[in-house]
Amino acid sequence: MNIKCAIFDLDGVIVDTAKYHYLAWKKLAEELNIPFTEKENELFKGVSRMRCMEILMELGNIQLSQEEQVKLATKKNEWYVDYISVMTDDELLPGAKEFLIACKDVGIKTALGSASKNAPRILKALAIEDLFDAVIDGNKVSKAKPDPEVFIKGAEECGIPAENCVVFEDAYAGIEAAHAGNMLGIGVGTKENLPIADVIIAGLHELTVEGMKEILNDK
Ligand code: BG6
Ligand code: MG
Repeated sequence: MNIKCAIFDLDGVIVDTAKYHYLAWKKLAEELNIPFTEKENELFKGVSRMRCMEILMELGNIQLSQEEQVKLATKKNEWYVDYISVMTDDELLPGAKEFLIACKDVGIKTALGSASKNAPRILKALAIEDLFDAVIDGNKVSKAKPDPEVFIKGAEECGIPAENCVVFEDAYAGIEAAHAGNMLGIGVGTKENLPIADVIIAGLHELTVEGMKEILNDK
């Protein structure tokens, strides 16, 4: 494929915030007496806040009213926002900023495709908004990953057809969303967690833009 646009998930791909989502959900799960480890947390990656709440209820085999769900998800978000309120450049994942700049240098468009409603706050705190030609986040979509809406909107805003886009994702649901949108999905993580990814990298520090182009030429 001929790559013209790279679409990046935020949490766990650009910034090291996936760990804070995990800690906040774990805290809530413990309050509800629901066992919660990194294994269960894989199901929470990439999906919207309220969908996470539903998954938590499924894991605990409990039922809560809509009002109670919103209350608990809001509480989780307050803990999460506390964690990220002291965020510095140190939270940028290795190679992420450099890779975004390198894409722009060779004329590859860049888009953010995140489920998070906190994305604008994070981009601003790290002063990286300008590295994206399009920013699509949880405030701009109505359907959560694995629905491809977030990536389709990113491609559209960049003016690039889906077949020329590649998605970087650390979530299983995110790779599913890329595929549903007819895009290749580069998994950031492990083969074990992301068996359906077209390519696996441990992080953006592992990849150069030339290296990415070479890998994608064969796809
Ligand atoms: C995604 C995370 O980026 O954003 C999910 O991987 C999270 O775990 C989702 O649930 C929604 O985030 P927020 O910040 O809107 O609660
Ligand atoms: Mg993620």
